[in-house]
Amino acid sequence: MARNASIVLVLNGPNLNLLGSRQPEIYGTASLSDHMAAANNAAGDHGFEIESLQSNSASELIAAIHGARARCAAIIINPGAFTHYAWSISDALAAFDGPVLEVHLSNPASREPWRQVSVVAPVAIGSIAGFGGYGYVLAVQAIAAHLAKS
Ligand code: DQA
Repeated sequence: MARNASIVLVLNGPNLNLLGSRQPEIYGTASLSDHMAAANNAAGDHGFEIESLQSNSASELIAAIHGARARCAAIIINPGAFTHYAWSISDALAAFDGPVLEVHLSNPASREPWRQVSVVAPVAIGSIAGFGGYGYVLAVQAIAAHLAKS
């Protein structure tokens, strides 16, 4: 399948479907669809289209990453808790032939020690963390700037 230079895949991992009601003091009160709508608007400003998927299953996320190979321009991923131990997701992202950007609503570096390890960071061009849902908009802008210069 040919690469569509305008599609950015946005993946969200486990428990992010609960955004809005899940620990709002940490993750905020907006829902995942609010964040995806904001990301979509930002993507439109840069001539990109967002394809998004949330899954609580690593195998579904891996299948989506495989499906993006040679097709999507970039992947933005908030892997949720998979961030900290899912080497299978890290390997799948390493096999993707475009830039990967890691996003977190909270700042895992300032939280529990087990959250301070990311197995995704080594295969990402960068990480955006601690800016709540605005991180998805920042990620779209960062990917647009990155693709424009590459
Ligand atoms: C998170 C941070 C992870 O540690 C946590 O397991 C999540 C959300 C974030 O967006 O801040 O589920 O990825």
